[in-house]
Amino acid sequence: MKYIVLNWKLFPENETKAINLVSLICQNFKKLDKKTQKKYKLILCPPFIYIPPLQKYLNAQKFQNILSLGGQNVFYHNRGAYTGEISPMMLKSYNVRYCLVGHSERKLIFHETNEDIRNKTQALLNQNMKSIICVGEKKRNERENSMSFRIKNEIFTQLNEILRGIPFDKMTSLMIAYEPIWAISKNNPTVLPAPEDVKKAINNIKFWLETRFANEAAKNIPILYGGSVNPQNFQKYLEISDGVLVGSAGTKKESIAHIIKNLS
Ligand code: PGA
Repeated sequence: MKYIVLNWKLFPENETKAINLVSLICQNFKKLDKKTQKKYKLILCPPFIYIPPLQKYLNAQKFQNILSLGGQNVFYHNRGAYTGEISPMMLKSYNVRYCLVGHSERKLIFHETNEDIRNKTQALLNQNMKSIICVGEKKRNERENSMSFRIKNEIFTQLNEILRGIPFDKMTSLMIAYEPIWAISKNNPTVLPAPEDVKKAINNIKFWLETRFANEAAKNIPILYGGSVNPQNFQKYLEISDGVLVGSAGTKKESIAHIIKNLS
């Protein structure tokens, strides 16, 4: 199973556009042959406010088996005086089963710490929801690659702090998105990590998970790649990973239609 996770961030501008985009995604997916459809799991993380109308739309069109909805963020308490927050339980009540946590924009702009991310992960796991944890290094110099000590150390430290105390039996509800922050499209990367290099980063993460959970089965935790995934490169990144986390390209009609149509 390969995952295509779309992170819409603060797009599109209104509900009508959101529904149109979802319709385009589902219609194109439906046209794929059944064997290809079975290979992929599509997850869309829209702004919170679009979740109820999109869920309604998906149900009405019988698209609920084609596309699942996810949150872009969540709070770690289910009730209380926390102005502006959304709880795992609220998301679950709209049939949301997935949620991104620790996206770099949450960390850099909203000062989320690894402890916050751990609490959010734990709160999602308590609701039996899947937590898509984003990790990745801030920058690289031209001599560094995925095997460089500094890079491995940065990623392993994030994993250590985020997954501390997460019990072994919750392992199957985890997903990891390897997102080198410098490769995210809004940071205007001049080069992207080569797929072979991403593959090494993914293997490092797999090795860390296997050691952390002291179990071979940890190898089955899906590890996705994210960072400027687009119609030109998505196939290469899909080949070496368990899926892709797509930002900007998932909000543009032509790009997302191209990606869906060319899944194989
Ligand atoms: P991008 O965003 O695909 O626009 O680089 C990815 C992300 O930030 O999740």
